[in-house]
Order: sequence, then structure tokens, then C-alpha cells
Amino acid sequence: MKTVTCTAPVNIAVIKYWGKRDTSLILPTNDSLSVTLSQDILHSKTTISASETFTSDRLWLNGKEEDITKNKRMHNCFRETRALRAAFEEEERRHGREVAPLSTWKVHVCSENNFPTAAGLASSASGLAALVFTLAKLFDLSTNMSYLSRIARQGSGSACRSLFGGFVAWEMGSEADGSDSLAVQVAPESHWPDLQALICVVSDAKKGTSSTEGMQNTVKTSPLLQHRIKEVVPARMKQMKQAILDRDFETFANLTMQDSNQFHAVCLDTLPPIFYLNDTSRAIIKLVHEYNNASPDGKLRAAYTFDAGPNAVIYAPKEHMKEIIQLVAHYFPGAADGSYFADPYRILQSN
Ligand code: DP6
Repeated sequence: MKTVTCTAPVNIAVIKYWGKRDTSLILPTNDSLSVTLSQDILHSKTTISASETFTSDRLWLNGKEEDITKNKRMHNCFRETRALRAAFEEEERRHGREVAPLSTWKVHVCSENNFPTAAGLASSASGLAALVFTLAKLFDLSTNMSYLSRIARQGSGSACRSLFGGFVAWEMGSEADGSDSLAVQVAPESHWPDLQALICVVSDAKKGTSSTEGMQNTVKTSPLLQHRIKEVVPARMKQMKQAILDRDFETFANLTMQDSNQFHAVCLDTLPPIFYLNDTSRAIIKLVHEYNNASPDGKLRAAYTFDAGPNAVIYAPKEHMKEIIQLVAHYFPGAADGSYFADPYRILQSN
């Protein structure tokens, strides 16, 4: 028996992925870019055991056994990594070296998140990234992250970005087989230590419309998405990369807020419309703009972004974070309506 445990971090996109051009290979309709959050507090942890005595693949998610045969995306990750392992074993044998036939052994997978699943906190990203990285370690495969990102992508699109720390782009690629649709690191976590993220957990309830289902309805019905894909995102990706390289918070903040707003606009442009933000989310948007408008030197001090749920992530330079936390705690004391706010999470750690 062989057992391996790994963790993977959450990433929060500042240029959002929303829409697939190929739903089985998970190939996106646009490039995206994210920031990886520190994994000391938020992470998915996966343990995989492989044994010649196991009779079937089994899966436990957050302590509850799930039917692994129904999980097509995990199956994709198993299929890809087992094929690579089988090729490796064949090569070893060809050279007369002994190797355990791990590619034929069944596996038991235990995966857990230490934060709410499916509440728009990118749990699938860290979960599938942890799965693929653990499989790679188990099977002694290459741990080149861009290489593995092509497999993680087939588990959940945003998972490919969680294989890197720091600032990460998912290049959509153009090949039909997905070979050039992969994640690359734009800058490491050490590049911008002054940038911090605050996660405001508005609700930890499971979201109504999953990203997977929602984004394909958007692809089918939203004319605004076509404009976003062709006209908006390509230019924004270039500007965002440059802003990160220059540690230019002003540009980073403007683009982050605009892109979050356009993502929620395409959700609204979908038929039937998808609503991820709630009144508390909108009040946070207003608060951040008011806080920026009140800036003594006229410079932006904070930026919000929202994924497929009502929870806000606020990016800000370290010097303003304390004040932002106080403001958020003052205006949104939590608990009252069942919502609460998490402690600040410092961002940017690699795996
Ligand atoms: C709004 O990666 O969860 O968080 O590829 O179908 O698994 P699938 O979708 P998923 O979508 C994430 C959407 C998003 C934006 C982003 O992370 O870029």
C-alpha cells in the first residue's frame, strides 16, 4: 500500500472565467487571472491510498462517502494520471527496472475542505488541485505545475490556477485537444507582499446555481458574454498582468472591480437570469466605493470581487486593511441575519 497526503490553496479570480467552448475537456471561452490565497487557513487536503488489495475506487468528501463512479470530473483526473503512470511503468520495465504496478491498483480518496463547500469560495478549485497533485505524487509523475494544470483543468476549470501560488493566468489556448489550455504563474507570492485579501463570508449556504450549469446557460443565451470574450477580456488581461508586474494597485483595483461587475452583469444577461449577489453583497460594493471616494490623497484603497456567490473578497494594501476590517465589522456586525465575517486572511503562499 502507498499513501500520500497533500494540500492545495484557494484562488480568487480578478479576471473571471465564465463559459466553456468544450464542456468535456473544460476549455474556456476566455483567459482568466487569479490570486492564490494563503493556504495556512483556507485549503483542501487530500489523502490517497493505493493498494493491490482494494477492490474498487472509493471516495470520501468531508467525511461522507460519495459514489465515485458518478463523479465524471474526478474520473477524468484518474484516467489521465493513471495513463501517465502506465506509460512510466512500461518505460521502467523496458529498461529492466522493477516498478510497482500502481496504475492498476484501486485507490481510496479522502478529501476535506476547512471552509464552506460550494458557497462561492472556490472549494472545487482547491479540491481538484489537491486531488491532481496528490495523484501525481502517488504515481511519481512529473510535478511540473503547468503540465499538471492541464489535468486539474479537466476536474474543474478554476482548479488549474490553484497549482501555483501568487498571481496566476489560465491561458485559454486554441487547440481542440486542450494541450495549450493551461495555467502559468505571472508573478510569485513574494512579488507583492503588501497586497492583502479579506474574505467576507456573507453566507455559507450552498449556492443556487452551480458555476458549471450557470456558465453554460450564459454561453447559450447572453449576447453580452460575446462582447466580453471578444472585446473586453483580451485587453483587460494585458492591463492586469502589467498592473501586477508594476504593483500598481490603482489599475489592479479598477480592473478587479470592473471585471467582477461585468461577470455579474453577464449573469443577469443570462436567460433565466442568475443572481449571485444579495443585498449585503451590494452594500459591501457601496461601502468600498465610498471608502475609496473618501481617500485623502484620491488614490484607491480597496477593491472588491465576487465569484458565483454573495461572499466578498476585498483586496487592499496592508496599510488600509485594519481600517477596512473595522468598517466591515461596524456596518456588517454579522450574526444578526445568520451571516458572519471571517478573520482576515493574508494572501499569497505557494503550495
Ligand atoms: C466565478 O471552475 O467552478 O469562480 O470549470 O465548471 O468546474 P467548472 O467551473 P468553476 O468556475 C469558476 C467560476 C468563477 C470565476 C473564476 O474562478 O475564474
